[in-house]
Amino acid sequence: MIALACDHTGLELKEEIKSLLDEMHLEYKDFGTNTHESCDYPIYGSRAARAVVSGECDRGILICGTGVGIGIAASKVKGTRVCTCSDVYTATLSKRHNNSNILTFGARVIGVDLAKMIARAWLEEPFEGGGRHQRRIDLITAIENGEVL
Ligand code: RB5
Repeated sequence: MIALACDHTGLELKEEIKSLLDEMHLEYKDFGTNTHESCDYPIYGSRAARAVVSGECDRGILICGTGVGIGIAASKVKGTRVCTCSDVYTATLSKRHNNSNILTFGARVIGVDLAKMIARAWLEEPFEGGGRHQRRIDLITAIENGEVL
């Protein structure tokens, strides 16, 4: 189950991502917004992020104008590993090495086709797991828990 969220700038792109997910036979849950009325991205981004860390959803794709605001908001929810991407390479490696669980991008930054390529690559890429990558993720979690490295 993929958690989706956007602000008013990302509505159309979110619909495009839904059609990609349909093509990939992946289910999704839409946490809003669902109108063009100007809104506050932290509300929708945090709702989707909470669904990811609670296990209700496996991963999340969030969209705002730049991908940055909604990504910062989502990253404040403990347990998220957020990647804001404008390219396929970063999205792929964020999954392979960092096991990112939330992808964000900017509806005002990238076009529909690139957004779909990024989302597909990110969804299909497995976490390499084990060894140094898991150790580094564990260190990130330690920081989140207040440990001083
Ligand atoms: C909204 O105008 C814009 O600030 C928002 O979509 C986002 O880009 C913030 O990071």
